[in-house]
Order: sequence, then C-alpha cells, then structure tokens
Amino acid sequence: MTKPRILVTRAVFSEVLDHLGEYFEVQSNQADEIWSKAQLVERLHGKLGALTTGSERIDTELLAASPMLQICANMAVGFNNFDLDAMTELGVLGTNTPDVLTQTTADFGFALLLAAARRVTEGEHYLRAGEWRRWRYDMFAGAEVHGSTLGILGMGRIGQAIARRGAMGFEMQVIYHNRSRLAPDVEAHSCARYVGKEELLRSADHLVLVLPYSQQSHHAIGAAELAMMKSTATLVNIARGGIVDDLALADALGHGRLAAAGLDVFEGEPTVHPELLALKNVVLTPHIASATIPTRKAMAMLAAENLIGFLLLGQPVSPLNPQVLGSPQQVQRKGRATGTPAG
Ligand code: GLV
Repeated sequence: MTKPRILVTRAVFSEVLDHLGEYFEVQSNQADEIWSKAQLVERLHGKLGALTTGSERIDTELLAASPMLQICANMAVGFNNFDLDAMTELGVLGTNTPDVLTQTTADFGFALLLAAARRVTEGEHYLRAGEWRRWRYDMFAGAEVHGSTLGILGMGRIGQAIARRGAMGFEMQVIYHNRSRLAPDVEAHSCARYVGKEELLRSADHLVLVLPYSQQSHHAIGAAELAMMKSTATLVNIARGGIVDDLALADALGHGRLAAAGLDVFEGEPTVHPELLALKNVVLTPHIASATIPTRKAMAMLAAENLIGFLLLGQPVSPLNPQVLGSPQQVQRKGRATGTPAG
C-alpha cells in the first residue's frame, strides 16, 4: 500500500524524519531553505499533511491551492501563523505543541529577567570592549530581583510556571492579569494574586509578557501602558512580537522612563528595530525561549504524533480546531486524497 504523503517545511531532527518515514512518504527541507508562498504551495501539491513552523503563514490562499491538505501540525505552542478561522472553514485541522515546552520557556523568561534587571549583557559588553579598569561602588548596579514584585500578563501554563519560580525561588510577590481569572486552586498553586491590568502595570517591578498574539493583544504594551510602569521596572517579552510597540519601548528605554527590557520576540522579526539595537539597557535574543535540544525534540515529536494520530487514526493529540474532525469540508478533502467522492 502506498504511504500518505506529507511535507516537513523546515529542517528538523533526523530521528523525527525517520519516525515520520515509518508511516508517510516524507518530503523534507533539511537544507532549511526559506520557501516563498508559491514554492510552499507547489511542494504541498498532493500532500495530506504538513509539519509547519511559525515561519509559514497558513491562510485561505494557501489552503484553497492545496485541496488535499488536511492537517498542519505546528512545531510551536503559538499559532499566530495560522489563520485558524480559514482552516476551520476549509476543513483543515491545526495542531500545536503545548506542555512540552512550558518549563523550558519559563526558565528562559527568568534568564531574560535576571539578565536585564542585573545588567548582565551590558556588563559583559563593557568588559569585552576593554573598558573595565577598576571597581566602582555603583558599577552596573541593577534592580533587586528577590523579594520584589513580579507581574505576569497572560497566565496560561507558561505564566503559571514563571509565577512559581518567582514565588518559590526568589521570594517574590506575584501578581497577574489575564483575560479570565484562574480558578482558586490553580491561582493558589501558582502563588499569584489576580489584579486589573492597570494595577499590574503600576505595581510590577518586573513585568513578564506571556500572552498569545492576536488582534486584541496587538500593542497591548504601548506608550500609554509603558507610561504607567515604574521607571525602575524591567519588561520581559517571551510571547510574540507585536504585543509590544517596539518603537514606544525603545523611546521609554532611551529616555529613562523604563530601566531595562529583555526581549526574545520582535515586531517584524527577524528584523529588529534599529532603535532597540542601539540601546544598552535591553537584552536581545533571537526567539530562543524554548531552545534546548530535549525540548525542541519533544516539540517536533509532538508535531509528528499529531500527523500520525490524525492521518492514520483520526485522533490528533493536541488539536486547535477539533470541530473540523468529521466536518463536511474535511471529509471532502479526505475524499479528494483517496479519490473517493464525499457524500
Ligand atoms: C515559540 O515561540 C512557540 O510558540 O512555541
């Protein structure tokens, strides 16, 4: 029997390709070329599924041009590269990779918080530039982390993991704001107190952003919000570019209205706003919060299990739009793939 055909859009661990190869005929991209939309559509021809990353935009145009495609399994917990409404309407399942990256990403949120608040990279650049000649009482004096107030905007799994690190590891008072308040037992387990967004902005010594990107969260932190924050505060963004107005942030950092920032994600990445690049009081990393080998392997394997579970058994592990399962549009796509007319 011929195996179903799938596409893996970017380079991935060879063991993941081997695993997929047991079930599918796999077209991969181990050269890690960045394909244009037209190239992606061309390669999706005849494919039933795709293992995608945040770099590929999955929208109406692409789905309409790929009539056999039934699933896009994103190797990321975020899925703002998916037009999920269009996918649902056109009968294509989307899946993501929750849970497997929670702790690793929370670790990195703390790494950025500590590096920015305690001026780690600023000190390192000074040392490497040969400028360190003597000790001085206030040299690179930063903000206190232990015992301070940690604010978290977006209290999903990663936000909760950061809250626990802050409360238990650093004896911080943790406050959070979220679209909906957590259930009392989850809140207690997170050692965090719910507050309104304005109180969060005004009270936090360090504010970590962990909310998903959407039209509603676009520029959730702009000039007005930055103006409410303490001038001694640190802002950390490990969520998505576009949640922060990067230009307004650069202005606040450059004029001493905010002490420091740690950013792993940017508006328009991989391009970074030149005004941010010019500042010393911001720690910049290239979207690597989940980047440990075990975690990236677990993410890729979960994406693979979604493809296998759905295409072979009809049971994806972590579906984003489960209403697609068995929908007429999805059945129609299946029919095209098997040559069996739907209905
Ligand atoms: C990374 O940004 C992810 O969404 O997994």
